[in-house]
Amino acid sequence: MRFCGLLLVLLASLCAASAQTAAKPILIDCGCNSTITVNGRQWIGDSFPGENFTLSSSGITASATAAVSGEPVYGALYRTARIFNTSSSYNFTVLPGNYCIRFHFFPFSFDGFNVNDSSFDVTANDLKLVSKFNVPGEIYWKNTRSKSNITSLVKEYLLSVSLNQLKIEFVPESGSFAFISAVEVIPILDRLFAETANRVGSNGLKVPSSLSDRGMETMYRLNVGGPEISSGEDHDLWRKWDSDERFMFSVNAAYSISNTSNVSYASINDSSIAPILVYETARTMTDNQVVEKRFNVSWKFDVDPNFDYLIRLHFCELVYDKPNQRIFRVYINNKTAAENYDVFKQAGGKNKAYHEDYVDAISQKVDTLWLQLGPDSLTSASGTDALLSGVEIFKLSRSANLAHAPERINTVQGGLLDQKPKNKILWTAIGAGAGMTITVLLLFAAFVRYRTRRKKPPPAKRSPVWRPLSLHGTMGSTTNAWASKSPSNKIGSTASNRIERRFTIAEIRAATRNFDDTLVIGTGGFGKVYKGEMDEGMTVAIKRANPQSEQGLKEFETEIEMLSKLRHRHLVSMIGYCDEQNEMILVYEYMANGTLRSHLFGSDLPPLTWKQRLHACIGAARGLHYLHTGAEGGIIHRDVKTTNILLDENFVAKMADFGLSKDGPAFDHTHVSTAVKGSFGYLDPEYFRRQQLTQKSDVYSFGVVLFEVLCARPVINPSLPREQINLAEWALHWQRQKSLERIMDPRLEGNYSSESLKKFADIAEKCLADEGKNRPTMGEVLWHLENVLQLHEAHVQKGDLNSSPTSQARYAADVSFSLPRIVEGEEEACTEPESIDGVGYQEGQG
Ligand SMILES: *[C@@H]1O[C@H](CO)[C@@H](O)[C@H](O)[C@H]1NC(C)=O
Ligand SMILES: *[C@@H]1O[C@H](CO)[C@@H](O)[C@H](O)[C@H]1NC(C)=O
Ligand SMILES: *[C@@H]1O[C@H](CO)[C@@H](O)[C@H](O)[C@H]1NC(C)=O
Ligand SMILES: *[C@@H]1O[C@H](CO)[C@@H](O)[C@H](O)[C@H]1NC(C)=O
Ligand SMILES: *[C@@H]1O[C@H](CO)[C@@H](O)[C@H](O)[C@H]1NC(C)=O
Ligand SMILES: *[C@@H]1O[C@H](CO)[C@@H](O)[C@H](O)[C@H]1NC(C)=O
Ligand SMILES: *[C@@H]1O[C@H](CO)[C@@H](O)[C@H](O)[C@H]1NC(C)=O
Ligand SMILES: *[C@@H]1O[C@H](CO)[C@@H](O)[C@H](O)[C@H]1NC(C)=O
Ligand SMILES: *[C@@H]1O[C@H](CO)[C@@H](O)[C@H](O)[C@H]1NC(C)=O
Ligand SMILES: *[C@@H]1O[C@H](CO)[C@@H](O)[C@H](O)[C@H]1NC(C)=O
Ligand SMILES: *[C@@H]1O[C@H](CO)[C@@H](O)[C@H](O)[C@H]1NC(C)=O
Repeated sequence: MRFCGLLLVLLASLCAASAQTAAKPILIDCGCNSTITVNGRQWIGDSFPGENFTLSSSGITASATAAVSGEPVYGALYRTARIFNTSSSYNFTVLPGNYCIRFHFFPFSFDGFNVNDSSFDVTANDLKLVSKFNVPGEIYWKNTRSKSNITSLVKEYLLSVSLNQLKIEFVPESGSFAFISAVEVIPILDRLFAETANRVGSNGLKVPSSLSDRGMETMYRLNVGGPEISSGEDHDLWRKWDSDERFMFSVNAAYSISNTSNVSYASINDSSIAPILVYETARTMTDNQVVEKRFNVSWKFDVDPNFDYLIRLHFCELVYDKPNQRIFRVYINNKTAAENYDVFKQAGGKNKAYHEDYVDAISQKVDTLWLQLGPDSLTSASGTDALLSGVEIFKLSRSANLAHAPERINTVQGGLLDQKPKNKILWTAIGAGAGMTITVLLLFAAFVRYRTRRKKPPPAKRSPVWRPLSLHGTMGSTTNAWASKSPSNKIGSTASNRIERRFTIAEIRAATRNFDDTLVIGTGGFGKVYKGEMDEGMTVAIKRANPQSEQGLKEFETEIEMLSKLRHRHLVSMIGYCDEQNEMILVYEYMANGTLRSHLFGSDLPPLTWKQRLHACIGAARGLHYLHTGAEGGIIHRDVKTTNILLDENFVAKMADFGLSKDGPAFDHTHVSTAVKGSFGYLDPEYFRRQQLTQKSDVYSFGVVLFEVLCARPVINPSLPREQINLAEWALHWQRQKSLERIMDPRLEGNYSSESLKKFADIAEKCLADEGKNRPTMGEVLWHLENVLQLHEAHVQKGDLNSSPTSQARYAADVSFSLPRIVEGEEEACTEPESIDGVGYQEGQG
């Protein structure tokens, strides 16, 4: 018995050894008659099959006369392809074991074969890999899904081969054809995939995941926090690792770290799991400096419905050299995949490369896979923080099938290929009551069709020359966005009667001395702001968008849209715009006294008095209150900070910069816009956590502004001791101890009444409540601030303050009118604010 056992073990290990060592990769360049070296590897032309593979029918070879542009790495492989108009197969002679198979498809047009018309199935042994496959359609989908711009397609599969043959069969749809540019068959170590993986949401239950049970398709392979890793840098398996940024739900939520000095594999067996490069970079949670890190870092992936997925996470602790420093939770599809996760402990130390596999099912109607890392509420770690180095997502076969639902492909073809008969089928299918997704796809397809039609070149004569296709001309091109989305359309439709003037570019150039840099009064993501002098002697602020910035474009449009709807004494108003010569320029009223921040700290400007500060806060609160509840209703500013509160020549405060603003109600309907935006230090922690924007997020930011006004220091000052870095935290700390005086601006000394200060600080504290629902509305804030001003003035009248008359005289806007009270229905303040303020303003002047 023992002998038998021993023999078995011996045999098994011998077999394993031979399987692992003898098998070599077979790389073939389809349609080619010689052996070439590409990307450091030898590719055998498939025109002369030999002992390692055979070809059941030779099909048709296509070859290029010119070099292939756009895919430098594999360009040489893509000069030829093999076309099959009948079922044909490659028969590889292999050793039993696990294999990685890669198919390269490069779209082309050759002698009457237009890849747009290709449609075929591919199977590997008995596993169906794709069905009714159309390469241009798939490329288009991939670019749309991943916001990429690839021109060729590489599909990667992992499967187990139990016999000595691997038969890869191409089956064209009748009347159509199949094609292939290159094939890689690479043996992989059995232990690349363990026998089991963690079932997501099952509290540690293991499920089988080995390749012997099912085949896999690689959906995503990302080097988190680092650059793309090209196939040449992954020497074992020649895998390409993309960078992860495109898949992040909110890039702000995490930042990248890297350390290339001393990373090694946690286990000797892990060496082919991923190259060390993957582990040398990672993302960790952004230090948002707001109380605790109570938000998730999220990635979002488009996947095919109705399959199981294996999610492989790669970790390596690069910073801490002891356990319990970084503990977090992993969520997959909103279910807990791991809790109390400490990479240091799991990997057995710092700089140890390590991975973990999870399996989860994606159901019928779902096409998104979420991966989230966030704090673990149970943890006692000194630092709540998360880390991820890499991620791979594999689709697992279901009943010997890896091909996704064919209706998607059909629909795309209906749009992409412009084939009349297919369209008819498509329409019938829709008529038969297909679901919502199909409708969306259809609209999309119609759009593509429309674009294709419009751009259709004059019928070209068919030359029997192979030529690469450019997919960029019609697909995913953004170069025209600037011109086509020019604001005139928008202004014409939404803002026609509100915007005063359309300036010529000549007028703008004259006003800014041809965009003289010495006139720049501000810069931002969108471009620069200039001080300008218009003909009629009017001073204006001119905001010129940087045409390179797509983001800027969007914010610009938002701003036009917002400003054209909004008129309020406490919102900076727009005078006009200029859209000539692809410029996007907005002209605003000039705010002579610049930003509120510049009067608080960091400049030589004289300090504002307590009363002026209160006026500035009240003005800004009015503007925000109007945004939240005024005529247009429900607008969220999203970027409330002291640099967005501007002061005019009379120190009247106005809210500026609506580039990030959102219409409250519409917000939920758009995906893109839910990404967290704003400025650190002012960012609502709840918004960060839930990525759900409400007006209370503005209230939070405004609370930070109030403390900033009081303490006259930056909201984030990294040069201070840790507990002082974040103003919101630091101020709350002292506010709770009722000794805020200790950190307030010393220049206010003797200038304020302690009663008004106390009330002011109470409001600020309430604004910073952790949960939005516990924060006051802007209307309440405004009401209380006005109360603070009254308290202060009552004090001044009693002569309790030693306010200096000279400093009072300096400020025209330091008016002493009695502000209206706002009761309950805050409409009072937003329907008639102009006139109320106007009166006060004139009093001040007079
Ligand atoms: C077939 O594969 C073996 C082992 O990988 C290799 O030694 C041999 O040269 C290959 N034959 C051809 C014709 O490429
Ligand atoms: C190989 O193919 C090239 C064109 O791709 C052709 O010019 C050449 O004659 C072929 N050589 C052989 C031996 O068939
Ligand atoms: C396949 O293509 C070849 C060459 O173009 C042609 O001779 C043959 O008739 C085609 N076969 C089918 C089934 O279309
Ligand atoms: C494939 O090759 C194997 C071994 O070389 C052979 O036994 C098998 O019959 C071949 N299959 C086909 C479909 O040609
Ligand atoms: C494709 O994307 C890369 C980087 O994402 C960019 O450098 C390149 O210019 C793009 N190519 C085209 C044709 O858009
Ligand atoms: C990188 O890691 C090494 C070894 O752990 C450490 O000595 C070094 O300080 C780290 N470098 C940085 C920039 O963190
Ligand atoms: C690098 O790692 C090795 C083993 O993992 C360790 O012994 C050594 O101290 C490390 N070096 C540094 C500089 O951290
Ligand atoms: C490596 O793998 C072998 C066989 O799969 C196993 O026996 C061994 O324990 C593994 N070693 C480590 C360090 O995990
Ligand atoms: C993180 O995401 C999970 C799953 O979507 C969710 O249940 C959890 O509440 C989130 N945590 C935070 C702090 O937002
Ligand atoms: C999962 O979480 C994300 C992000 O928090 C959210 O957008 C999504 O709707 C959630 N999905 C489900 C099914 O709850
Ligand atoms: C294939 O379709 C794309 C997109 O519709 C189009 O740009 C391209 O010109 C077509 N190719 C050919 C050869 O018709």
